Amino acid sequence: MLRLGERCTAVRGPLICPAADGPRLTLIEDGLITLDAAGHINSVGPAPADCAEPVTAPGAVWLPGFVDTHVHQPQTRIIGSGTGPLLAWLERSVFPEEARLADPEYAAEVTDEFIDALIAHGTTTSVVYGSSLPPATDALFAALAEAGLRADVGLTLMDQGCPPPVCVPDAVAQAASEALVERWHGHDGDRLRFVITPRFALSCSRAQMRAAGDLAEKHGLWVQTHIAENAAELKAVAQAFPEARDYLAVYADHGLAGPRTILAHCIWFDDAAWDRVADLGCTVSHCPDSNFFLGSGAMDLAAPTARGVRVGLGSDVGAGRSFSMRQAAASAWDAARVRGVAVSAEALLWHATAGGAAACGRPEVGRLAAGLAGDLVAVDVPHYTLERGPKAVYEALAFRRDAEPVRHTVVQGRVLR
Ligand code: GUN
Ligand code: ZN
Repeated sequence: MLRLGERCTAVRGPLICPAADGPRLTLIEDGLITLDAAGHINSVGPAPADCAEPVTAPGAVWLPGFVDTHVHQPQTRIIGSGTGPLLAWLERSVFPEEARLADPEYAAEVTDEFIDALIAHGTTTSVVYGSSLPPATDALFAALAEAGLRADVGLTLMDQGCPPPVCVPDAVAQAASEALVERWHGHDGDRLRFVITPRFALSCSRAQMRAAGDLAEKHGLWVQTHIAENAAELKAVAQAFPEARDYLAVYADHGLAGPRTILAHCIWFDDAAWDRVADLGCTVSHCPDSNFFLGSGAMDLAAPTARGVRVGLGSDVGAGRSFSMRQAAASAWDAARVRGVAVSAEALLWHATAGGAAACGRPEVGRLAAGLAGDLVAVDVPHYTLERGPKAVYEALAFRRDAEPVRHTVVQGRVLR
């Protein structure tokens, strides 16, 4: 039995093990994971015949914790706000809500809901856009530190193209970013990291993007941003940056596109742009549910994967309608169908775990292997699926839209649910 807040030393049950080198999973029907006192995985394998450990969560299967490579904390309460497409939705729903985080009490309530939702859905690692307001982002770090989750968090940079309450001059944002790096980057054995977060080309001045690229370089930080999401956005970016060859070049020209950059959406890339993404070594956050909700389009998953580009899944809450990475996987299936791309539940669960870990540069999570962090999730599956074999289990995990929250969530060996 697992008790909340305790350290877990062993887990027995069916194990789903993502491969290190490609979108494949192995199902061990009766497996055993042991963990050390620091919460690292000691061993993974079939339970020995004389195993004394009882099954930990009967009816559930165990996987590495889910990795959400793109989620907006200040949008927790605007999930399902139907004011899209993108630019109208930002004006009508997003900016007014993000401004409300200036009230520390309101921000704390939203943060509690955000953290509860991540834990409930088994997201043990998330790459987070905070608001543009430094005190709210500092408080978000503190709450994640306390909650025990693993996360990369950014102060969302926006010094133009948005209303005054969320528009933060670059000098203020840069000073705040330096302070947040100093205070939180690498916290608790790298459980928390600071990620440079220019919102998108339309909300950042050239000077801000250049300074953000310099800061990332100075501290070796990851970068995250939005790109090629919506037709009107593309047109506005082309008008605002006539000197740039295309949208990707805007970021590349400002030192924001390299092997530590996560590009979200990437719907409207042509082959040449995808080739350059691969050459630059950028990674991709595929956010299909958000893309459907805002009517943005459907990313061609085969374009990055065929080029060896690392791809994770993103909920993109609150344009995405759920914190669940299982729901993200289900929408990724739909997007693949729309684009005529062959994919499987197995591959999508891999992208929701090992692929996401690779896409945000966290080799310590995403798989079940000795030496890795003990970030685990137990998910109930219908009792008949295990009898039907691995494919039925993967499909139940990925495609059941009526799925409950997960049974257990464990980060670094600590039981959070
Ligand atoms: N582009 C710029 N900001 C946002 C955002 O908050 N959500 C999405 N989906 N796209 C964006
Ligand atoms: Zn987003």
